[in-house]
Amino acid sequence: MLEVNNIEVVYNDVKAVLRGISFRVPEGEMVCLLGTNGAGKTTTLKAISAILKSQKGSITKGTIHFSGKRIDNMFAAEIVSLGLIQVPEGRRVFIDLTVYENLRAGAFVVKDRKKLQANYEMVKKYFPILGERQTQIAGYLSGGEQQMLAIGRALMANPEYIMLDEPSLGLAPMLVNLIFEIIEKINEREGTSFLIVEQNASIALSSTSYGYIMENGKIVLDGECKKLSENEDVREFYLGIKDDSTLQSFAEVKHYKRRKRWLS
Ligand SMILES: Nc1ncnc2c1ncn2[C@@H]1O[C@H](COP(=O)(O)OP(=O)(O)OP(=O)(O)O)[C@@H](O)[C@H]1O
Ligand SMILES: [Mg+2]
Repeated sequence: MLEVNNIEVVYNDVKAVLRGISFRVPEGEMVCLLGTNGAGKTTTLKAISAILKSQKGSITKGTIHFSGKRIDNMFAAEIVSLGLIQVPEGRRVFIDLTVYENLRAGAFVVKDRKKLQANYEMVKKYFPILGERQTQIAGYLSGGEQQMLAIGRALMANPEYIMLDEPSLGLAPMLVNLIFEIIEKINEREGTSFLIVEQNASIALSSTSYGYIMENGKIVLDGECKKLSENEDVREFYLGIKDDSTLQSFAEVKHYKRRKRWLS
């Protein structure tokens, strides 16, 4: 279980970006964290992975527990070795290294050669293209292939949990569907739990079981994804579906009222 309890994060000692965030990802589950630009999604993942410090960010309140251990005062490498791995926003593969070298870098916590080989075989099973391109320079891969490589690199580290920061970003819809299908398979077959941060609410809600919606550093709504997909506000703001055909101006007033309700 990953459990985030009432976390507050401040940048440069002044800017409060997370204002009391709580959520949980039970073992074996797929959970999504949705929200528009600047809501604080990436900051949340960075807080969990302990990579805020280099950006003058710090957790000023709250706790984070993983597998029964308190991790909010641990170092990033310790958290990785516990099996909690983050795939950063914008993929961030090592563009000058080959595909294999990138994967190998992901396995820095794995000391056993046999385990390393087994992990590599597993990655190739889910992403055959990475096996075919193993000697190619990662910088020449397409965006979709780089996203696969970033996920593959996380798989190399014996993950119990993988946190993905906007895996759909900049990818064509067909590729997004393919990547989410593979993620679902990994969850089913390997038992890996996933926390998926997305702006693409449609794919995230259809692929995960529970969702949290974030605005301005707070969770404003959470629930089973099936229920969230039926929620009028979620349909309007995140899925772009309007269920009634009221006048535009009235709709805008409603929009404003609902936003106020969410944020209050
Ligand atoms: N290192 C930093 N220093 C100061 N402010 C920051 C820093 N990183 C992020 N912020 C601010 O914190 C807020 C939340 O940013 P964050 O990147 O967590 O949002 P996000 O939900 O991931 O957005 P997006 O969907 O655009 O990726 C934004 O207002 C952003 O400008
Ligand atoms: Mg982000």
